[in-house]
Amino acid sequence: MKNITVHNYNINANLKKEITICHISDCHLTEYDEFSTKEEIDFANQQTLHWQKMRHSFATGYKESFGGDATIPACVHLDNLLKVSEKSDCLVFTGDMFDYMSGANIRALEGRINKLKKPFIYVCGNHEIPSQFPDDLSISVIKQELQIVDLGEVIIVGFDNSKREITPSLFKRIKQLQKGGKKLIIAMHVPIVVEGNTLHQQTSEYFKFNYPNCPQINLDFVNFIKESKNIIALLCGHLHFSNNVDISQHTRQFVASQGVAGHINVYNLK
Ligand SMILES: [Fe+2]
Ligand SMILES: [Fe+2]
Repeated sequence: MKNITVHNYNINANLKKEITICHISDCHLTEYDEFSTKEEIDFANQQTLHWQKMRHSFATGYKESFGGDATIPACVHLDNLLKVSEKSDCLVFTGDMFDYMSGANIRALEGRINKLKKPFIYVCGNHEIPSQFPDDLSISVIKQELQIVDLGEVIIVGFDNSKREITPSLFKRIKQLQKGGKKLIIAMHVPIVVEGNTLHQQTSEYFKFNYPNCPQINLDFVNFIKESKNIIALLCGHLHFSNNVDISQHTRQFVASQGVAGHINVYNLK
């Protein structure tokens, strides 16, 4: 599809039945509609211009496609990404789907999510504020402490680590799920930095879940992932460039590049 970059990956998990998962991140929608005030429209236009520059800056900095014409609206890219994902079994959104909280952004995304005919996970990014989502929307799953999609042989769990934190109770729940014996995929916004992953190491603390002098529980969580044989993948966003690394011999972390520039990851689990 024009202006869209599909990153295809195979994940070997010894499954009896293949599963396809699509992963979209960081679309940074800057929408306005007929219900928006003049101030909201002005702000949306300002942020649209900002992301025309930012998407280009990230893409050129990391030698990636910026999605053709930089003036293509984020929601046009998103519609194309959703078309690419039509045949998948599950969709994972790893945050910053909005650039900022607004009624128009919520309406734009909710309308699209409501048309999905498949299970999805939507974890919060640092540009989203869960408490500001009305309770009765599909995208309000963002408020759940832990989202779970059971695909049979594989379970996908998603949680909000956008503040680079994990609570003891949430950690305990993930540990319990991992003991169940099924293969597990974890979706979260901020990735784990791993020794030798130079591109990620060179970014600022803001882009790292296990940043220098982070709480011990963050390090414990990283060690738990390294030691688990059931966790097969971590799906993250936030970096705005594609970045994949082995966390251990069992687990690979995939950071999806910026949806605002038309990037999508497609995983074929076998
Ligand atoms: Fe982002
Ligand atoms: Fe982010």
